[in-house]
Amino acid sequence: AHQWRGVIREYAERLPVTESTKVITLGEGGTPLVFAPALSELTGSSVYLKVEGMNPTGSFKDRGMTMAMTAAVAAGAQAVVCASTGNTSASAAAYATQAGLRCAVLVPDGKISMGKMSQAIAHGADILQIDGNFDNCLEVARKLSENYPVFLVNSVNPARIEGQKTGAFEVVDSLGDAPDYHVLPVGNAGNITAYWKGYKEYASEYTNAAGKTLAPVSTKTPIMWGFQAAGAAPIVLGHPVTEPDTIATAIRIGNPASWTQAEEARDESGGLIDSVTDDEILAAHRWLSSREGVFVEPGSAAGVAGLIKHHGAGHVPAGKTIVITVTGHGLKDPDWALKGADGTPVEPTKVAFDVLAVAQSLDLA
Ligand code: F0G
Repeated sequence: AHQWRGVIREYAERLPVTESTKVITLGEGGTPLVFAPALSELTGSSVYLKVEGMNPTGSFKDRGMTMAMTAAVAAGAQAVVCASTGNTSASAAAYATQAGLRCAVLVPDGKISMGKMSQAIAHGADILQIDGNFDNCLEVARKLSENYPVFLVNSVNPARIEGQKTGAFEVVDSLGDAPDYHVLPVGNAGNITAYWKGYKEYASEYTNAAGKTLAPVSTKTPIMWGFQAAGAAPIVLGHPVTEPDTIATAIRIGNPASWTQAEEARDESGGLIDSVTDDEILAAHRWLSSREGVFVEPGSAAGVAGLIKHHGAGHVPAGKTIVITVTGHGLKDPDWALKGADGTPVEPTKVAFDVLAVAQSLDLA
């Protein structure tokens, strides 16, 4: 039986690696493309979820981190650094451990979920909480890597984008062609950049690093729809947000590094980048867990929130194929699931150690 070998080995022909490259991998990628019955019924289109929480550290960041850490080792680095709202730091810490590198992570003070923090701690990273937001952390991380011997593994490193473009390859490989729409959350805007790059490369002839020309795999590229949180929506507003604010801490970013590339993905694909409120994000988060069986962290639900919003406005055509990337696992930030739609804690029902009492409480007897 074939075992998935991680995105570098699976897509080596389309990535900047050679046979002698020492590959750092935890077996990332190969994530399920799950049919979403309730969203499909709502829209009259076939809606699929690319469930990126199934990656080794629970988010899509692992696709880029296998490439970035492989590049760090190739460059002879001793240490890596990243700024993060939590998932990048969890991923960097894990991959640096396998690579035998020291890992420093810069995170915004008090604004990273407990699950993500526990991963960085478990993998032994040096965790520095900066008195500021993600954008401040990224500024420090960039300057640190420019002035000191430490390798930057944020998505401003092109190796990250190369790894993350494999998400688009997998979607096409599963569906047999590109979808009509691809929908996803936007924070620092690396992922929308990477998906668009992957879709474009798969839709045309591609000449790889070794000079070999590969035939197109798909007949088309999708329309790209990206969604920011309303309190952290610089691309929608057209200017940086100095105090980004949202419960979706993963995408609490006011000045995305890949801003221009995200606008290119939007415009070249005939798509849009819009915002969704925290209430819409939490409703989509609940929709996914209670109606589709897929548990994600709140920020991961921004794409679904956007689809539901645009369906409500009559902008989602029926009869299409729509893929939504849900970017991180629900266990990353489980607190939100412990509250009901009205915000009050959901408590388990207490029942006696008695079969009849249990049956009665389930209305079975
Ligand atoms: N969803 C999740 C769960 C994320 O963690 C992120 C980004 C995004 C969406 C947005 O992706 O930045 O490529 O537009 N998290 C980064 C981090 C910033 O540090 O973990 P993007």
